Amino acid sequence: MLHQIIYISTARPSLILSDVEDILRASRRNNERARVTGLLIFDGKRFLQALEGSMEDVEATFSRIAVDPRHRALVRLSGRAVEGREFGDWSMGSHLVGPVTGKGDMVGHVDAMTEGLTDPNMRETLRGFARIRGGAAG
Ligand SMILES: Cc1cc2nc3c(=O)[nH]c(=O)nc-3n(C[C@H](O)[C@H](O)[C@H](O)COP(=O)(O)O)c2cc1C
Repeated sequence: MLHQIIYISTARPSLILSDVEDILRASRRNNERARVTGLLIFDGKRFLQALEGSMEDVEATFSRIAVDPRHRALVRLSGRAVEGREFGDWSMGSHLVGPVTGKGDMVGHVDAMTEGLTDPNMRETLRGFARIRGGAAG
């Protein structure tokens, strides 16, 4: 059994693109080593991240993330056991959307990305997030 957590957080207002790039660089490096997979969505204001792997590795990673001053107000949306990796094929950071990257259309992006998820609740959680944020971002 693997452990999976999903949380949202709010980026520090002064966060700039190079901060996000730094986060992604560290994430790819550390997560590959710890065999933690997942995704990170950033819309310019809020982060949504899924992390999965062994209980120990996921919690150790999350403990580091939780004290990172580049974001605040972390809320754990979900924490559960999964039989297999749901985000295993996704490289952290391939799903940055919104004003920061100019890639636009978070709603369409998240819809497409979550199509293959086995758990309908998870799919709706992620899609709901995209809709709230997507709407607010106009
Ligand atoms: C929104 C957000 C997501 C992050 N995700 C990860 C992650 O998945 N893995 C990780 O190792 N660090 C992540 N970090 C960075 C950690 O907080 C921390 O800076 C980093 O793990 C330190 O690694 P280093 O000592 O190798 O530089 C994230 C930070 C933020 C703000």
